[in-house]
Amino acid sequence: MKDVILMAIESSCDETACAIVKNGNEILSNVVSTQIEVHKKYGGVVPEVASRIHVENISMVVCEALEKSGCTMDQIDAVACTQGPGLVGSLHVGVQAAKTIAWMYDKPLIPLHHLIGHIYANSFVEPLKFPALALVVSGGHTELVYMKEHFSFEILGSTQDDAIGEAYDKVARVLGLSYPGGPIVDKLAKQGKPHYKLPVPKTEKPLDFSFSGLKSAVLQCIERERKAGNEIIVEDMCYAFQETALKTLVDKTKKVIEEKHPAQIVLAGGVAANSRLRVLMQQLVDEIEGVEAVLPPLWCCTDNAAMIGAAGYQAYLRNEFGTLDLGAQPSKELCD
Ligand code: KG4
Ligand code: ZN
Repeated sequence: MKDVILMAIESSCDETACAIVKNGNEILSNVVSTQIEVHKKYGGVVPEVASRIHVENISMVVCEALEKSGCTMDQIDAVACTQGPGLVGSLHVGVQAAKTIAWMYDKPLIPLHHLIGHIYANSFVEPLKFPALALVVSGGHTELVYMKEHFSFEILGSTQDDAIGEAYDKVARVLGLSYPGGPIVDKLAKQGKPHYKLPVPKTEKPLDFSFSGLKSAVLQCIERERKAGNEIIVEDMCYAFQETALKTLVDKTKKVIEEKHPAQIVLAGGVAANSRLRVLMQQLVDEIEGVEAVLPPLWCCTDNAAMIGAAGYQAYLRNEFGTLDLGAQPSKELCD
């Protein structure tokens, strides 16, 4: 079969990214321009500021990705982009760029779901094996997604309130740590000891998640300790939060493995970079026969465009193209 080379664009939150990807698993270039330093000042992503920086950076990022790949536009078979979910202004910049390039060079356009990108980031490690179970854990999502085959997504459980990455970021803020909180809490938790006790979140449906109560429990615990005249040991609080939050992820993943016997577990999204989660997942699959875990390398856990190129390849094979009148979909559903 002829090689398929895609240009992929991602701009759903605070990373402006473009990649050139061959056959869904060979990265010819992968350029990510992050805005983290700007948003750090505000303790989180400011949507208006994010959209403006995307506008300033998008052309540069696209040109750099093309140049680094050594390809010309003649060699590009289609242009893929993240259509949603995400921040509407941020998404709009990437979608407009993709549409403009597709129109100018007469290329097919492939609109994609951001989480499908995160899941397919794993194909840079090894091909997906079905049935697969994806644990999608990012700043905006916490989802258990069952896949019978390529591009078949069944959501078995999702968060009823905050996403896990959001909980990491909020807890970090409460503890006076900087944004994004996930990597810092991860690091400090390693130096922490079992000391504080936090309640394990409960949900109505057994495979759903809930993290806002856990964040409140951290706040209440801090209050109690302060009232008692005790200093907060930040490392121990990070440890308590992380162990409790990750326990619900691991327990529910285990439940699905026992019920549905997937051949492969894939971690996806920014929180997949968490060192403790990676250890716990590996331990979990080591205990159960017939299932393996794919842990994406750290560079492809957080937002990038190569993952959109990997997912775009599957959409290309299925002729799932979009038209030039499509727009950003900030609440795009996984299963539509
Ligand atoms: O996937 P992502 O880059 O953006 C979204 O699609 O949301 O994920 C960003 C999230 C942030 O909440 C960040 O704190 C979290 O991923 N994160 C981590 C770690 N690295 C990033 N959370 C826990 N541990 C980490 N090592
Ligand atoms: Zn993401």
